[in-house]
Amino acid sequence: MDSILPILYLVASVSFVLGLKMLGSPATARRGNLIAAFGMGLAIFGTIFLYKGHNGQTLSNLPLIFGGLIVGTVIGMVMAKRVKMTAMPQMVSFFNGMGGACAALISLIEEANRDMSLPHDPVHSLTIIAGLVIGGVSFSGSMIAFGKLAEKIKDLSFTGQQIINILVLAGIVVLSAMFIAGSVSGLTMLLVLCALALAYGVLFVMPIGGADMPVVISLLNSFTGVAAACGGFLYDNMVMLIGGILVGSAGTILTIIMCKAMNRSLFNVLFGGLMSAKAASGTSRTVVGNIREVTATDAAVLMAYAKQVVIVPGYGLAVAQAQHTCHQLETELEAKGVVVKYAVHPVAGRMPGHMNVLLAEADVSYDKLVEMEEINPEFATTDVVLVVGANDVVNPAAKTDPDSPIYGMPILDVEASRQVIVMKRSMKAGYAGIENELFYRPNTSMLFGDAKKSLAALVNEVKAL
Ligand code: TAP
Repeated sequence: MDSILPILYLVASVSFVLGLKMLGSPATARRGNLIAAFGMGLAIFGTIFLYKGHNGQTLSNLPLIFGGLIVGTVIGMVMAKRVKMTAMPQMVSFFNGMGGACAALISLIEEANRDMSLPHDPVHSLTIIAGLVIGGVSFSGSMIAFGKLAEKIKDLSFTGQQIINILVLAGIVVLSAMFIAGSVSGLTMLLVLCALALAYGVLFVMPIGGADMPVVISLLNSFTGVAAACGGFLYDNMVMLIGGILVGSAGTILTIIMCKAMNRSLFNVLFGGLMSAKAASGTSRTVVGNIREVTATDAAVLMAYAKQVVIVPGYGLAVAQAQHTCHQLETELEAKGVVVKYAVHPVAGRMPGHMNVLLAEADVSYDKLVEMEEINPEFATTDVVLVVGANDVVNPAAKTDPDSPIYGMPILDVEASRQVIVMKRSMKAGYAGIENELFYRPNTSMLFGDAKKSLAALVNEVKAL
């Protein structure tokens, strides 16, 4: 019987790796998620029923464990069922925060239950501290990210914030070192450290400028993974350790990819908001000029007689839930012999892969989705670009305005195409809170209205041609 649990852990670990690999493509992502969830189920129930402590006893507090499992499952299921597609990013951030909180609680509970008769073990203390601090920062940071993504919390930076951050961080480092060295101990000391870690999570995410949030979210994700791995180390539990390492490394890789996509160094993302007011306040050049409006009828004619149309999806596509109508327009245009492609910017929407998930949901063929580096040279020979609820990712200020908070971020060079049609409801700014000079360019026309309604009108007009 004793060898069954390690085998279950091995199967669970393999399922995590397989699931993660399958998440790499929308075609296999759903199955990958189910496989990894099955592995997690095996690990959880295997531990509950087969785990034996040092005294050879199995777990005794089953009513408490199942009580927690049932409450957590019900809350998780209700949240997942009710969440709107547009609120997915903040829900992911919320769940990530819960992982960090779990890791921090594990450290607190382990310290509270420590056998004081045993000699001080610096490695054990280091693991407790790492789980507590990283988990605590991840929890409070993710909660702030949750608030920012839900547009309930605004970026905040103030004079002297950098000094406060450094002081809090220094406090954490000194107390941690003392705890690991054994010169301080006990639950009270850990609670002080926990409070400092929570404060640091808030202070470190608060000033980060809107458009840099994707990097912070993936970084917090990697923090949660590392904190969970500490729990695995503490319990000598292989599957928890492997799961944590996988989340930690996937989050780190994503952070690097996001930094590259924004053309920013991690240092600049994390501390840029503190060093200059511009990242937080979103000040940039005011754009002056006239805009041109286009009717659905005229836009449909332009597209139906084009050789190639490139659709640029953005956050507004998710808000309007217009992905199915967008796919319909693509089908109608293709029936007229038009080549249709989708240009996907790595930070379009509000979470990594947001547009890919949205378009996959509408059965848009994956090979029609073209990444930024690949599609950018094609815009010069594209007849019409249809921007559907995207704003920051097509804003030329990223190339031309050094004062812009998005300056340096690579964008989709849509302005190089012959005609740009922008679908949005008003002249309001996007996530970064800045104006977009693309809307004033001579080859740009605005098609105002909710993206779903405008796309439906375009479908009817193209059909009628
Ligand atoms: P945004 O710049 O946020 O622009 C979205 C546009 O959609 C808005 O200007 C809005 O204009 C329009 N819109 C909203 N609802 C609409 C509707 N129902 N119908 C038509 N249009 C609608 O989006 P983006 O271009 O995708 O850029 C993403 C931004 O979010 C970047 O700044 C990025 O850094 C940031 N961000 C990304 C992530 C990740 S990981 N992807 C995470 C956090 C933040 P109206 O109000 O005028 O309609």
